[in-house]
Amino acid sequence: MSISCDMLVFGGTGDLALHKLIPALYYLHREHRLHDDVRILAIARQDIDRNAYLALAERHLRAQIARTDFEAEIWNAFSQRLDYFPMDATQRGEYVRLAHHLGQAEGRVRVHYLATAPNLFEPIASNLESAGLAGEDARIVLEKPIGHSLESALEINEAIGNVFPESRIYRIDHYLGKETVQNLMALRFANALFEPIWRSGHIDHVQITVAETLGVEERGSYYDHAGAMRDMLQNHLLQLLCLVAMEAPVRFDAKSIRGEKVKILEALKPITGNDVQDKTVRGQYVAGQIGGNEVQAYYFEKDVDNDSDTETFVAVKAEIDNWRWAGVPFYLRTGKRMAKKRSEIIITFKQVPHMLFTKGEVNRLVIRLQPEESISLQLMAKAPGKGMQLEPVELDLNLAHAFSSTRRWEAYERLLLDVIEGDSTLFMRRDEVEAAWNWVDPILCGWQSHYRKPRPYPAGTDGPEQAHQLIEHQGRQWWR
Ligand code: BG6
Repeated sequence: MSISCDMLVFGGTGDLALHKLIPALYYLHREHRLHDDVRILAIARQDIDRNAYLALAERHLRAQIARTDFEAEIWNAFSQRLDYFPMDATQRGEYVRLAHHLGQAEGRVRVHYLATAPNLFEPIASNLESAGLAGEDARIVLEKPIGHSLESALEINEAIGNVFPESRIYRIDHYLGKETVQNLMALRFANALFEPIWRSGHIDHVQITVAETLGVEERGSYYDHAGAMRDMLQNHLLQLLCLVAMEAPVRFDAKSIRGEKVKILEALKPITGNDVQDKTVRGQYVAGQIGGNEVQAYYFEKDVDNDSDTETFVAVKAEIDNWRWAGVPFYLRTGKRMAKKRSEIIITFKQVPHMLFTKGEVNRLVIRLQPEESISLQLMAKAPGKGMQLEPVELDLNLAHAFSSTRRWEAYERLLLDVIEGDSTLFMRRDEVEAAWNWVDPILCGWQSHYRKPRPYPAGTDGPEQAHQLIEHQGRQWWR
């Protein structure tokens, strides 16, 4: 499907636009996935002209993508689609100018991508409406986090819902655009092997780790108000948890999939009162070493309060109160400046009911999303030689090798194309976002009232010691 469209990127000079959106659109153009008539209009306050913006975008693109993927000829053709419009998005009057600049919409889809702070969502939506830019052909894309609490998320959803119907609101969680995340659904629902044992009788516990080596880079002022819980766990990690835990949807479509995910979010056991201390760990990195280089403490990062008690690490023991998952903990953890970059889901199965051998480890299914995409199953096998010496071995599926002739799409490529084509399967519905906040809010409140100071952990480690204690129970430990 190829659709003519105006893509307006609010926050056009920001990190997200320059590091992710423009590169994704460049690849889509390069691979002929965009209609010839797709135009991209970056919007921001900075008073620069189109040429200066193109230079800025080109510089970031070159830094962002593989050297061999940048081709001057393709960039020149792509940049014909790209324009820049300086304006203050909070000023209603500016939108008349914008509408005039855009001209007639006839037959074109209009995508308003809000790559801005959430406090701008509401004014932008209402200003778009007042200028006649929110009609039937218009869609709005909101970047996570949607708000900073349940209350603010409700307000945002309400305000956006007054302008756009739910079917034309796309709430992005870029993790849902990752190939391996979608592969999780293929693994579970296209193979007969796992589903019968995908439940409490057979699974001991689940771990979801999203660890980064990066710090907060240029995003200190945003991050210091958000922290790891709002920035990562409330959205990316809970979405992964939903995909692991949800029932099989009736169909592979937006309504069925999102309906199943929301049931899981609603079944999450609330963490309140003393449980906040017992089932969550928050940490903040102090000076340490990553890859042999010294890195400074979080509170010395640019635009971060010197006395900050924002968490850069969080670990949670989550439980799902339903038939399938009763008694199976889901341990979630994410952090910045950790030992290595990796996003993994580990399903640990129960021990065999009667062990015949002296040594036997449990089976594990390790689903790696990053840096390499792979799925491996840890099994026990007999080591060659006399006697019955057992050793764990891995059945490995490297997805990049298995599909080596195809370039792996970046999450935003897939998601941007879905918005243009009007497919909301991989986006979050209003009730999902609200259910996620509903679970996270009491934890944030508990921290606020009696757990203000995060535990320090040296940069380049696996987080604070308390995170290990959280999981240590009947021989459980974080996977590697
Ligand atoms: C973003 C967070 O949503 O995800 C960032 O705001 C984080 O803080 C990023 O670095 C991680 O994404 P990925 O795709 O690199 O795992």
